[in-house]
Amino acid sequence: MSQERKKARQLDNEAVADGRPLDWFEELYSQVAGDESGIPWADMRLNPNLATWLEDRRGSVTRQSALVVGCGLGDDAEELASLGWDVTAFDISPTCIDWCHRRFPDSSVNYLAADLFDAPPEWQRTFDFVFESYTLQVLPPDLRSSAIQLIANFVSSGGRLLVISRGRDATDDPGQMPWPLLREELDGFRNCGLNVVRFENYIENEEPPVRRFRVDYQRRI
Ligand SMILES: C[S@@+](CC[C@H](N)C(=O)[O-])C[C@H]1O[C@@H](n2cnc3c(N)ncnc32)[C@H](O)[C@@H]1O
Repeated sequence: MSQERKKARQLDNEAVADGRPLDWFEELYSQVAGDESGIPWADMRLNPNLATWLEDRRGSVTRQSALVVGCGLGDDAEELASLGWDVTAFDISPTCIDWCHRRFPDSSVNYLAADLFDAPPEWQRTFDFVFESYTLQVLPPDLRSSAIQLIANFVSSGGRLLVISRGRDATDDPGQMPWPLLREELDGFRNCGLNVVRFENYIENEEPPVRRFRVDYQRRI
């Protein structure tokens, strides 16, 4: 395991033990002081699982409003903005959002620091496209079902939600943070008025290989 992931797990464990399970994200971003090599999920490039999803739809998707949940250092939000979409991207860590502003000073993306669990009420049922990658899997299991409801609620009538996560079967070891999700957990989105357009379950060729779920949902009209 990388030193960065060890450090993230240590901060996560301490924060959970102290009863403040969301604090460690800001702690990590501020501790690395602008050195992205200290952030285990910061690839500083477009998520390849989003890239292939967009590539399959190129030309068929018109301009739309998009929300990126837990946007990290902004590469995915920037890609959506490059398509001409109106993009809002938020993260719980103010340091992370400052970093996005510094990386992309001329960006059209509306970056803001916000907590999913206390998001602006005007975001309810607002966005044509909501993108969530790898945030649910770093939240403690007891927060996940409410996080799923909150994310689902951002999607407008007829709008789409794309979720990308690690995946596992119920018989697999639950592992450690980032916890692979069960398909049954993601079913929570269906209980919030979203239909599954496509559920993909595949191995991503990383080192070591990672089992991924990529799920495309649409809100029922
Ligand atoms: C594993 S990272 C993934 C970042 C980015 N989505 C990516 O794919 O690279 C999870 C991100 O979610 C953010 N986050 C965690 N809890 C959050 C919350 N309650 N509200 C908003 N952002 C949150 C973290 O600060 C972190 O940047």
